[in-house]
Amino acid sequence: MMPHVPFTDALVERLARARSVAVLTGAGISAESGIATFRDPGGIWERFRPEELANVRAFLRNPELVQAWYAHRRALVAEAEPNAGHLALAELETLIPDFTLITQNVDDLHRRAGSRNVVELHGNLTRSSCIDCRRPAAEADLRMLASGEPARCPDCGGYLRPDVVWFGEMLPVEALETAHEAARRADVFLSIGTSAVVYPAAEIPRLAREQGAYVAEVNVAPSAIAGDVDEVALGPAGTVLPRLAAAVRARR
Ligand code: OAD
Repeated sequence: MMPHVPFTDALVERLARARSVAVLTGAGISAESGIATFRDPGGIWERFRPEELANVRAFLRNPELVQAWYAHRRALVAEAEPNAGHLALAELETLIPDFTLITQNVDDLHRRAGSRNVVELHGNLTRSSCIDCRRPAAEADLRMLASGEPARCPDCGGYLRPDVVWFGEMLPVEALETAHEAARRADVFLSIGTSAVVYPAAEIPRLAREQGAYVAEVNVAPSAIAGDVDEVALGPAGTVLPRLAAAVRARR
């Protein structure tokens, strides 16, 4: 697949005519908001070990460490702002009758940018709940951590955990089903800023293509699925997506 800079006219034409569009985003779309990706040089998994932080056994072994790491990530995300790429996707949603934004990101930036129909495959960092009774946690419950104690549920005393999917855990069933349905319906599917190596998210673009969607990837470098898409639009999402949204707006 020959990469295009930034995208083909065919993609604009298809988006302008599309009734149904689905999008899958990954960490790359938030890179320009200053949030590190996972697998790029300097990425999160280069500096931290998933087996020490992002699984339930690690959490039960050292709840304070894991809670502190997520508190740190929440603070980074709270300081960050949605970038032009997030905003362009929120605009595309207003131009297309049936638009589903499927994200692997837990940073909540799509919603803050104004996207409405967001499917969170890996949960959301800004929510926490009790690992035992599942009661949603309030901000005040999480503050216990600041006093040097692990944060616990005020009802049952269980440890509070972020509502994110850890290694070895199932994705939320409803979110995954909604994502699959959107992929099957899509006339056009965009895979944006994801290395497409983490399953089951990475198989969603292929499912869309099998069901007849035109699949385009937007990335600074071709991903693991670049050979299985119709078009690779090369460039930073914060540059490519505003241009794409403007071109679609001009033709719709
Ligand atoms: P990765 O870190 O694996 O991939 C980031 C992708 O973004 C790479 O393909 C980069 O080339 C691309 N990229 C970087 N900057 C970009 C930019 N400005 N514009 C466009 N693309 C850019 O992140 P994900 O694919 O999201 O899971 O990783 C998937 C999952 O792995 C995450 O959801 C997380 C992680 O383990 C869980 O925590 C469950």
